[in-house]
Amino acid sequence: MNIYINNTKEVDCACNALILPFTEGDSMLYADLDPSISKLIKRLFSKEFHGKQNEVLLVPAPEDIRPERILLIGLGKKGGVSSEKVRQAGGKAAAYLRDMAMKNIALSTGVLSSLKLSPADFIEGSLLGLYTFNAYITEKKRKKVDSISVLSRKSKELKDNLRWTEIVTSSVNFARDLINTPSNDMTPTHLASAALSLKRRNLSVKVLEKKDVQKLGMKAYLSVAKGSKEPPKFIILEYKGSKANPVVLIGKSITFDSGGISLKPADGMERMKDDMAGGAAVLGVIKAVSQLKLPVHLIGMLPATENLPGGSATKPGDVVRAFNGKTVEIISTDAEGRMTLADAIGYAKRFNPRAIIDIATLTGACSIALGSEAIAIMGNYRELIDEIKKSADKTYERVWEMPLFEEYKEYLKSDIADIKNYGSRNGSLVTSAYFLYEFAGQVPWVHLDIAGTAWIEKERPYVPKGASGIGVRLMVNLLKDMK
Ligand code: BES
Ligand code: ZN
Ligand code: ZN
Repeated sequence: MNIYINNTKEVDCACNALILPFTEGDSMLYADLDPSISKLIKRLFSKEFHGKQNEVLLVPAPEDIRPERILLIGLGKKGGVSSEKVRQAGGKAAAYLRDMAMKNIALSTGVLSSLKLSPADFIEGSLLGLYTFNAYITEKKRKKVDSISVLSRKSKELKDNLRWTEIVTSSVNFARDLINTPSNDMTPTHLASAALSLKRRNLSVKVLEKKDVQKLGMKAYLSVAKGSKEPPKFIILEYKGSKANPVVLIGKSITFDSGGISLKPADGMERMKDDMAGGAAVLGVIKAVSQLKLPVHLIGMLPATENLPGGSATKPGDVVRAFNGKTVEIISTDAEGRMTLADAIGYAKRFNPRAIIDIATLTGACSIALGSEAIAIMGNYRELIDEIKKSADKTYERVWEMPLFEEYKEYLKSDIADIKNYGSRNGSLVTSAYFLYEFAGQVPWVHLDIAGTAWIEKERPYVPKGASGIGVRLMVNLLKDMK
């Protein structure tokens, strides 16, 4: 797929379809383009089209202009148009045109510019909305958009914005591919290969093997891997775009979560291949940041393993000593993510981080609390939480803060160890975060629970059903502004 900036008039643009964005009820927006177009639009506005958010209408173009067809796409009420609405319109329009077998399409940008919105937002939605995962479909669909021409004067700003958009969306789609891949092909070993594929001059990748993490004493992490024949891989990536202390991103990377001996119900268990969505997001972020060459020192950690109930699996009631010396009583082997993250957080402290951010499909309680609309955010670092909230508003990867009251400590009190990995269903969204907090201590740390948002059951304008790739846009935007 190619994105071009093309400084030609709408009527002179040779393409299969010309996209004209409309605000609601404003039939005169393109009145000075060409008399035949304006006549056509007037007619359509009387019945067929109104400009409501994400409304689409594809019509044959008048004979005397070069585009073959015109797609009208609605942005909703003029006063309410935002970057998000434009992204949605971009996703809806592009996927619709692909399904109608349009190969070369063009976007008219005048209306967006007059609303002070960037065409790059529209293209962002398009590139995300056109995503498909068909690696396992034998007879592939042929319909594919080959190019989008952005009809505009060439400016450095637009060129830079589009470059940013292409890099970030391809990183989101990279993460989506990893998450959608079934767990028989996305083992910890495969995930490590995916990480190694990102290696380049400014990005180093190292994989710690089982014996290495044994030596380090990461017994909380290893307790999860014991029930599987697949070897665990502790993946570390480093991008040094500045001399400052690093930001460490830790992504939960359970390539399949059966629950272990605390086995999950069979219904819907196939979805648990997405339990590495945090790790995939971290890879996506680092891929984008290294391509954009952002001035930030970034370390990514993916403590990857399967969680299976094999003969040597960890059992409820077992006690293990974590990397930082704390003992943990394992009440549920299904509360495995926090075991892997606890050791990664402990290990991350060695790098003197200015901040640790973990991102994880950690609790079912997160999707019960917030549905698929928001990431739950908790942490001990107010400024960073506030920065993430700003990035969330910008990218519409929204976050909602939950508390870390000290009283939650009580919920995790064990009779025989320093802490237990699970209390009860009561408050399990916040107690899972509190568990991590016990390992982060005073080191600046923020936790993102993406259990409700990592997987989308019903398609959205720019998120096809399946892996959403959430977290990539949120964090790349955050890191862009982090001095
Ligand atoms: N991976 C799951 C959380 C999850 C559940 C993500 C549903 C997405 C959809 C996690 O490891 C888990 O099993 N959490 C349990 C913890 C409990 C048993 C201690 C949960 O929240 O139900
Ligand atoms: Zn689990
Ligand atoms: Zn899990």
